[in-house]
Amino acid sequence: REAGLRACRQIGENLIVPGGVKIIDAHGRMVMPGGIDVHTRFQMPDRGMVSADDFYQGTRAALAGGSTMIIDHVVPEPGVSLLAAFNQWREWADSKSCCDYSLHVDITNWHQGMQEEMESLVKDHGVNSFLVYLAYKDVFQLSDSQMYEVFGVIRDLGAIAQVHAENGDIIAQEQCRILELGITGPEGHVLSRPEEVEAEAVNRSVTVANQTNCPLYITKVMSKSAADVIALARKKGAVVYGEPISASLGTDGTHYWSKNWAKAAAFITSPPLSPDPTTPDYLNSLLSCGDLQVTGSAHCTFHTSQRAVGKDNFTLIPEGTNGTEERLSLVWDKCVVTGKMDENQFVAVTSTNAAKIFNLYPRKGRVAVGSDADLVLWDPDVSRIISAKSHNVAVDYNIFEGIEVRGAPLVVISQGKIVLEEGDLHTTEGCGRYVSRKPFPDHVYKRIKARSRVSL
Ligand SMILES: *[C@@H]1O[C@H](CO)[C@@H](O)[C@H](O)[C@H]1NC(C)=O
Ligand SMILES: *[C@@H]1O[C@H](CO)[C@@H](O)[C@H](O)[C@H]1NC(C)=O
Ligand SMILES: *[C@@H]1O[C@H](CO)[C@@H](O)[C@H](O)[C@H]1NC(C)=O
Ligand SMILES: *[C@@H]1O[C@H](CO)[C@@H](O)[C@H](O)[C@H]1NC(C)=O
Repeated sequence: REAGLRACRQIGENLIVPGGVKIIDAHGRMVMPGGIDVHTRFQMPDRGMVSADDFYQGTRAALAGGSTMIIDHVVPEPGVSLLAAFNQWREWADSKSCCDYSLHVDITNWHQGMQEEMESLVKDHGVNSFLVYLAYKDVFQLSDSQMYEVFGVIRDLGAIAQVHAENGDIIAQEQCRILELGITGPEGHVLSRPEEVEAEAVNRSVTVANQTNCPLYITKVMSKSAADVIALARKKGAVVYGEPISASLGTDGTHYWSKNWAKAAAFITSPPLSPDPTTPDYLNSLLSCGDLQVTGSAHCTFHTSQRAVGKDNFTLIPEGTNGTEERLSLVWDKCVVTGKMDENQFVAVTSTNAAKIFNLYPRKGRVAVGSDADLVLWDPDVSRIISAKSHNVAVDYNIFEGIEVRGAPLVVISQGKIVLEEGDLHTTEGCGRYVSRKPFPDHVYKRIKARSRVSL
């Protein structure tokens, strides 16, 4: 329970183990730093509803899958103070979270006065990342000039600009057109959001980030063309990172046409999953070669009964897919087993890169003396079939239902305590600590600072 006991104490051969310490025989399996799920939306309010997995169920599912830290998104109602929303999320997470957590803050509308609140979040509350939306017209969407102003503030504060990249104006027009054609089912969601609408917004935010010399992080990379824009921008020298998610790495958007409405609706998320079934393999390849760097889950689930408000109008279906529990196994199965990446790259894209970008390293994302004792004993040989019958979350439908994956955590240690062993979770509600993140992470800002010295 002491702070020291939650950190790694000794690493090496022939250690002297104090009495009363439990010994786990790893027996040829791999010990790695716990995963960091960089993108969750637990108990997220959405148009009068709340997503099905709260911070208790959500963090339990994360731990069951080998993630020992999550970073959730604070989504202030437009007009509500950022600090008030941040404090609300802290309260929810502090009382329920079973693993360490941190918070990104979403900028859901913009006026100059918000600059002071952002400064206070960075200086006094350990926030170093803010997300802007280029979609959700008339709700969360910012204009290009607002994005430009926000990026300038973010750069001066030493934070990371995150973008939900989709062109909301075009989507709004396309939604009307598709509804007028009489298409009201889940397939209307993807028909109204073609992939070039995602790629265009990625390109636009790369341009604005470059003009303002602000580091950029694209959440939820869902399509080949969006991933290509990020890869090309990086080759041209842009400081930009891309986050594919469990859903885009593990499944595709052909299911939007399923005859089973509940199934089709469970895949609703934005940007949508690509109907091109070769997309997951493509994204897994870009993740493996370093063109994309980080994996999240964007876990935000709704029961079929909640999704049903959009039974006759796809624009009303609440959005989000699961994946916090499946993330590590999916990446292992699709990238390591296939030989696209090795075990070290696996650790990088599931944990270390996120820790470096968001300034959690070396406390998180590393196995070392003094780093947090958040560890996973990984079994590469076990294989299992994902099913809603056995998962640890609240919702009733799993988008990865029936998929067989190889590789799973055998033992998970969080804050020095065993939380998963022999398939059993032993979690404590509310023991997760809020982890502050300092601004100006070297991994991101060394280049930004050098550029600001040489530019006009
Ligand atoms: C963005 O679009 C412009 C105009 O089509 C193109 O010149 C540029 O290469 C694109 N940038 C990236 C990073 O793809
Ligand atoms: C960024 O902007 C500079 C100066 O305007 C330009 O020379 C450079 O090509 C741009 N880089 C990218 C990646 O677009
Ligand atoms: C569908 O919902 C949208 C709100 O998202 C509303 O503007 C539109 O009128 C509705 N259309 C139909 C056909 O119900
Ligand atoms: C997976 O996602 C679906 C759709 O939101 C959800 O209903 C299901 O229960 C989730 N399963 C897991 C394991 O999270």
